[in-house]
Amino acid sequence: MALSTSLETSRPSHLARETALPSAWDEYLTWISFAVPGMLSRGNVDAMGYAIAHAPKLGAFVEIGSFCGLSTCVIAHLRERFAATQPFFTTDAWRFEGQQSGAPLGTSRTVTHDAYRTFVRDSFLRNVRTFCASDLPHTIEMESDPFFEAWTRHATVRDVFDRSARLGGPIAFAYIDGNHTYPFALRDFQNVDAHLVAGGFILFDDSADGSKWEVRDVIDDVMRLGTYEVVAKVPNYLVRKR
Ligand SMILES: C[S@@+](CC[C@H](N)C(=O)[O-])C[C@H]1O[C@@H](n2cnc3c(N)ncnc32)[C@H](O)[C@@H]1O
Repeated sequence: MALSTSLETSRPSHLARETALPSAWDEYLTWISFAVPGMLSRGNVDAMGYAIAHAPKLGAFVEIGSFCGLSTCVIAHLRERFAATQPFFTTDAWRFEGQQSGAPLGTSRTVTHDAYRTFVRDSFLRNVRTFCASDLPHTIEMESDPFFEAWTRHATVRDVFDRSARLGGPIAFAYIDGNHTYPFALRDFQNVDAHLVAGGFILFDDSADGSKWEVRDVIDDVMRLGTYEVVAKVPNYLVRKR
């Protein structure tokens, strides 16, 4: 692969350009998108760039669902580019939809779901330690419901890097990419909304019009509230609180 000769223009095909927002893409993101696995569309990167550049200064950044850390590394890079100083939290228990603890992974005779989970979690740690070294997020190993319960009572917890982290306070930008079923995605929105400051942003992964994921139904609920405006469809929804 002639990587070095095509960095400016090459993007993995699943990251094809699809948004009217200013491009947030750069050479660095080309490199990490080849090395760090994940499920991040090209439009989401531009939406993250816009949100991070325009996020209120008072409030944290929160990512729900990190997997191997691709979106975490992208957010960390865009934070550096836009000199964002807001605290950065991520939450994931590495309990995947469809995970069957103790069972073989699909038809494999040797690999189990548990080994897969351990591999993904270890990959996250390695990727984030490498690519977010100067801006390590506070990654809390929890599902989002207990995370927000702890956030609401300003709990002090240990992050996956064994540092102390005080949760709580306003949120300026949230990336919702955890459990994609309707009840979970709705609760993630409601929990973020309870803490999101006016002018704060939410990006919903897999929420595009026509998406088969139930998270799309949450967008209808959000718009019915009348307290959010659509900033962009990339094609996933980036919304801002009025
Ligand atoms: C689609 S992946 C995230 C991909 C990642 N944001 C990226 O772009 O590379 C979904 C992740 O959400 C996590 N997850 C599932 N349910 C969750 C929940 N209730 N709370 C937090 N994370 C959850 C899974 O463990 C998985 O790692």
